[in-house]
Amino acid sequence: MALLTWSNEYSVGIKDIDAQHTKLIGMINNLHDAMKDRKGKEALRPIIDDLIAYTVSHFGREEQLFAQHGYAEGVRHAGVHKALTQQVLDLKTKIDSGTGVLAVEVMAFMKTWLTSHIMAEDKKYAPFLKSKGMA
Ligand SMILES: [Fe+2]
Ligand SMILES: [Fe+2]
Repeated sequence: MALLTWSNEYSVGIKDIDAQHTKLIGMINNLHDAMKDRKGKEALRPIIDDLIAYTVSHFGREEQLFAQHGYAEGVRHAGVHKALTQQVLDLKTKIDSGTGVLAVEVMAFMKTWLTSHIMAEDKKYAPFLKSKGMA
């Protein structure tokens, strides 16, 4: 059973962004399922690769919207993206070098991303982008 299901509390009210955020929840659930099946360790490599691809496509999309609509906080927000991306790359380096990254650590990282980034930072741009006609 999935750990998390999409709910309105996660929504920024912009359809394509919500759809992308749902993908992060999907990755959290995939890792959760793998851990339950005691396959968390094997699941880490594909999940980290998915997360790296996700940082490129999703952060790219948000930053493109900031630039397109002149969001004043866009540069600061992009800086937070950069730090998150670096954390993902650091996890990848550790996983590849076999230094014993635990599935629970990656799980905690992704959950913090959901609560601290999506539910705090991303929600800040929602009223601005909606005022520009995004829905
Ligand atoms: Fe986001
Ligand atoms: Fe963001």
